[in-house]
Amino acid sequence: MTSRHILACAAWPYANGPRHIGHVSGFGLPCDMFARYQRMCGNPVIMVSGTDEHGTPIQVQADAEGVTARELADRYNRVIAEDLAGLDMSYDLFTRTTTRNHYAVVQEMFLGLYNNGYIFPRKSLGAVSPSTGRTLPDRYIEGTCPICGFDGARGDQCDNCGNQLDPIDLINPRSKINGETPVFVETEQFFLDLPAFADALGTWLQSKSGQWRPNVLKFSLNLLDDLQPRAITRDLDWGVPIPLDGWRDLPDKRIYVWFDAVIGYLSASIEWARRIGDPDAWRAFWQAPDAEGYYFMGKDNIVFHAEIWPAMLLGYDGKGARGGTPGALDVLNLPSEVVSSEFLTMEGRKFSSSRQVVIYVRDFLARYDVDALRYYVAVAGPENQDTDFTWSEFVRRNNDELVANWGNLVNRTVSFAARNIGSIPAAGSLTDADRALLDRSRAAFASVGESLGRCRFKLASTEVMRTLAEANKYLSDQAPWKLRESDPDRMRTICHVALQLVDDGKSLLTPFLPRSSQKVHEMLGGNEVWSGMPRIDEVSEDGGPAYPVIAGSYSGAAARWESMPIAAGTPLAPPVPLFAKLDPSVVDEELARLEAR
Ligand code: MF3
Ligand code: ZN
Repeated sequence: MTSRHILACAAWPYANGPRHIGHVSGFGLPCDMFARYQRMCGNPVIMVSGTDEHGTPIQVQADAEGVTARELADRYNRVIAEDLAGLDMSYDLFTRTTTRNHYAVVQEMFLGLYNNGYIFPRKSLGAVSPSTGRTLPDRYIEGTCPICGFDGARGDQCDNCGNQLDPIDLINPRSKINGETPVFVETEQFFLDLPAFADALGTWLQSKSGQWRPNVLKFSLNLLDDLQPRAITRDLDWGVPIPLDGWRDLPDKRIYVWFDAVIGYLSASIEWARRIGDPDAWRAFWQAPDAEGYYFMGKDNIVFHAEIWPAMLLGYDGKGARGGTPGALDVLNLPSEVVSSEFLTMEGRKFSSSRQVVIYVRDFLARYDVDALRYYVAVAGPENQDTDFTWSEFVRRNNDELVANWGNLVNRTVSFAARNIGSIPAAGSLTDADRALLDRSRAAFASVGESLGRCRFKLASTEVMRTLAEANKYLSDQAPWKLRESDPDRMRTICHVALQLVDDGKSLLTPFLPRSSQKVHEMLGGNEVWSGMPRIDEVSEDGGPAYPVIAGSYSGAAARWESMPIAAGTPLAPPVPLFAKLDPSVVDEELARLEAR
């Protein structure tokens, strides 16, 4: 296949707390697996994201911690960047939404849509707290969902049925701050004319049939049945100012956080290009005919990525019902795929930082291997259905699969060959069993690659593990340790075949387990970077305080998505264990930690 420009987008975490594994399992880690696979195929890739720092989720938490929104965002931008870098997430850029560049790109998108007639002002009713007279943001209001009757619906969204709401729609609305009933007063906001994109969105979504995950496509198509103009500004002082005369300087009118955040994918791409010193480099990922964009997120984000963001892009391009001309950035591509995962629960309960049903990324990484988590997420993550994380399943997968299958294959093969031969032996003539195994392994690159290209991570990782189990069986059947005296040539051939399988396994597992694959690469004599790792750069803007961005240069790494023949004669040293086997008592310890909270 010829190479394509791949834009890999991971949803932007709110800068309102450290990340827990529920946050990263559904979309963060899968996005990295996808990006690493695409790079191995020789495709130019950029993976972008950042912290989502505006809006009520930040304000609510800032109030709770007694700091300003900006202080809170600064605090958690750093914590989250460290969490994600610790997971070996290979972002080309992980930035934030409070940069000057982001503000400029958001305002440019707003203006492009406005100039094409897709944004208009309208008076509507906004919620105000009767006791303070202050505006009550959507998320501060709770009530009964008018669509499904769920009693914990929020003013912006019902988590039970997933529908978008306006606070005025809620039955029995009440303030989350003090329980009082909000009053609704007239306020003027800008609206995005979603109905003007009904046809274009419908055509686009229909064209994805058979490609997207069925749940995601069905959900997205359903959204088209009820397209209403949506308010994209708020009465709030924390956010991007409205770039129009008469509005720009109003202290408490700001662009809605979701309108600003989705633009982050574009602004981060533009910032990335600037940072690498090639300011137009982003265009190949957004405008070239061979460019593809993949957006990874949890299912509560589908509406923003499969409806609102594509509508914004269409409007900016001048491709809605009102026509128009492309804005100053020129025509921007729609997403190729919205890859949405389902939810992860923890020991049967919803993850909740406030109720402490949680395991934070940094605590996890302090106790367990990063690749143990990455493996679990690939093979048992919430890819197609809500999925429960349990410690016993984590320990079982780690011990019975990662350690007993892959770790064992590497360890027994490399240590036997190192001890008895000292270097990678050449193969003599091959038996049918040798050839069958080598063929199977070579073929895995095609089938596993097909799965990874379609974001089927469970299928892909399961298939690799099956191939490796075959290799373990081969080794046991062939028992080279019995041939040391009687048939050393055959012993060497068997070792060659098994080492080739270890090398192939290392490549096939690189998207999932980049850190341990690097170790295996080095065991087999490689000394260059196999799969690139992210780094944290400290940057600042206008002489302001330093903040971290995640960056990295991954294209120089050696990893390729193919079987690469091992070189006879390469010296081998006895291996170090790849993964820690976990004592079953870990399960009780972790459950006790959960209960203690
Ligand atoms: N911060 C949002 C959330 O956690 C996700 C934003 S994704 C973006 O649900 F595209 F809007 F950036
Ligand atoms: Zn509902």
